[in-house]
Amino acid sequence: MNNKLFFGDNLSVMKREIGSETVDLIYLDPPFNSNRDYNQIFTNMEGEKSSAQIKVFEDTWYWNNDAEKIYLETIKYYNNHLVSNFLISMRQFLGTNQMMAYLTMMAPRLLEMYRILKPNGVLFLHCDPSASHYLKLLLDAIFGFRNFENEIIWCYRQGGRGKRSFAKKHDTIYFYAKNKDYTFNADAIRIPYVGTGGYINNKNNGGNLVNGKLYKPNPKGKIPEDW
Ligand SMILES: C[S@@+](CC[C@H](N)C(=O)[O-])C[C@H]1O[C@@H](n2cnc3c(N)ncnc32)[C@H](O)[C@@H]1O
Repeated sequence: MNNKLFFGDNLSVMKREIGSETVDLIYLDPPFNSNRDYNQIFTNMEGEKSSAQIKVFEDTWYWNNDAEKIYLETIKYYNNHLVSNFLISMRQFLGTNQMMAYLTMMAPRLLEMYRILKPNGVLFLHCDPSASHYLKLLLDAIFGFRNFENEIIWCYRQGGRGKRSFAKKHDTIYFYAKNKDYTFNADAIRIPYVGTGGYINNKNNGGNLVNGKLYKPNPKGKIPEDW
C-alpha cells in the first residue's frame, strides 16, 4: 500500500480497496460546508495567472433525493449504532437543510474511516467553525467521547475581515484515537522551549520545583500546545 494514490470518491474507495484495521493514521481535510465554490486558477506557460478557472469542488450541500436516500441507508445499515441516533436527532433538530445534507454525507465516510483504522490508529479531522460543533458530536458518536484527544486550533491572519465581529481566523483539527493504546510519536514533534515557559526559568537548567515536584526540561524540547 506504500505510495498508493487513489482517485475517486473516498467512500467507494475505502469500501472497495481498504481492509478493516489496516491504517495507522488518517488526516482528512474534507469540504467544510463553507457554502462556497473553490476554483483552480490556471497559469500559462510563462507562469502568469490566466483568467481561465475550473470549478475544483463545490462546498454547498443541498437536501435532495440523494441526501434522503443516503440518510435512510445509513440509519438502516447502522441500526442501533449511536450514529443512527445522532442522525435522527439532528434531523429533528435541524430539519432537512444544508447542514443536515453535509452531516449525512460525512457520517458514512467517518464510519468507514473508523473501520479501516488499526486499533492503535488515530484520526485528525480538519474543519472550521461552520460545522465543527456538529462534527465533534458525530466523532463522539463514532469514536466514543472518551477517545477525543485534542481540539487543535490552527490560526492564520491572511484574507478579508468583516467589520461586525472578531476576525474569523482559525481552523480546527479534531484528534480522535480508536482506543487509549494509540500511537503518539511525541519525540518526533518536539519544539524548543520558548519565552517564559516555566521549565526554562531556572538558570542552571535543573528544572523547577512546583508543589514539591521537580519539573525538568526535556533536552529534546517540548510537545507543542494545541493551538
Ligand atoms: C478542503 S478541500 C482539501 C484541500 C487540500 N487538502 C489542499 O490543501 O489542497 C476538500 C477536498 O475534498 C475533495 N472531496 C470532496 N468530496 C470528496 C469525496 N467524496 N471523496 C474524495 N474527495 C472528496 C474535494 O474535491 C476537495 O479537493
